[in-house]
Amino acid sequence: MRLLVTGGAGFIGSNFVHHVITHTDHHVKVLDKLTYAASREALAGLPVELVVGDVADASTVDALVAETDAVVHFAAESHNDNSLDDPSPFIRTNLLGTFAILEAVRKHDVHLHHVSTDEVYGDLALDDPKRFTEDTPYAPSSPYSASKAGSDHLVRAWVRSFGVRATVSNCSNNYGPWQHVEKFIPRQITNVIDGIRPRVYGDGLNVRDWIHADDHSSAVLRILDAGRIGETYLIGADGERNNLEVVRLILTLMDQPADAFDQVTDRAGHDRRYAIESGKLRAELGWAPRFEDFEQGLADTIEWYRTHEEWWRPHKAATESSYAAKGM
Ligand code: DAU
Repeated sequence: MRLLVTGGAGFIGSNFVHHVITHTDHHVKVLDKLTYAASREALAGLPVELVVGDVADASTVDALVAETDAVVHFAAESHNDNSLDDPSPFIRTNLLGTFAILEAVRKHDVHLHHVSTDEVYGDLALDDPKRFTEDTPYAPSSPYSASKAGSDHLVRAWVRSFGVRATVSNCSNNYGPWQHVEKFIPRQITNVIDGIRPRVYGDGLNVRDWIHADDHSSAVLRILDAGRIGETYLIGADGERNNLEVVRLILTLMDQPADAFDQVTDRAGHDRRYAIESGKLRAELGWAPRFEDFEQGLADTIEWYRTHEEWWRPHKAATESSYAAKGM
């Protein structure tokens, strides 16, 4: 099968490309804009063709989709804090980019899998026994999550109105190698390497449902292979932890006192808790996560950042100075 992966040079997109090359015979082409959050290095040595281009550019997208059998659409601006500073790239890439993909797959009758986030469902209270399911109403909080919610709605509308053959997945927080140092886990690991105290927003009781990026990739491939057209599948690995627990674990694994972090200005509109009920994906498609030991996964991730300093170092100072300007 000829597969087009948009955003395939980003953190989760490149992980998926590795997964596909390892586990299938598919021929993979990547469309990526190579923004600040992407890297060619993440694809080094793989037999894939990288096309550098903008997913919101309809003619580029049309030409690529015309010669593919399926599209997996990862390309997105993904960082909430950036969307609060300037929403415009989020509107362009996440909404207009998805629109361009949808028009092309509609025209060429190509199968689409759209990769999205659990943030489209808003947040849960800390003491709420419920988790997100495929039936939870959409209630996004940030410009980022609103743009992803909009993109999901576009996909659903193109399925219903035009008969586009598409599936959607909404996943929880990913961790693992190649994640940009603006994100919570890599930021704190690289802070500790640099002798800077980790920074936790607000009271640190916000809960995220962590999943290893490899498990996200295996779920997306499973949905691409066997998911029912028009369906949404939630992806999660029962990894709920609050930010204080995660930062203390990072500090302990890096031989620092567990309380050697600072609490800083909270994120505006900061979602309290995400939690995924992934029973539909497990029961219907027989998927299960492999990385069930978060502590081991985190230890491996720390080791990866220790041994890949040449990759993240060029981004670190600018990321920290942008956070410092906001008191974060
Ligand atoms: O839930 C899926 C989402 O997970 C994805 O859709 C997003 O693209 C991805 O960025 C992530 O969103 P979050 O906003 O949850 O991730 P982030 O790494 O920015 O923050 C995780 C938690 O840690 C959140 O509660 C904010 C907090 N945080 C973050 C940073 C960068 C801190 O306390 N300190 C920090 O320095």
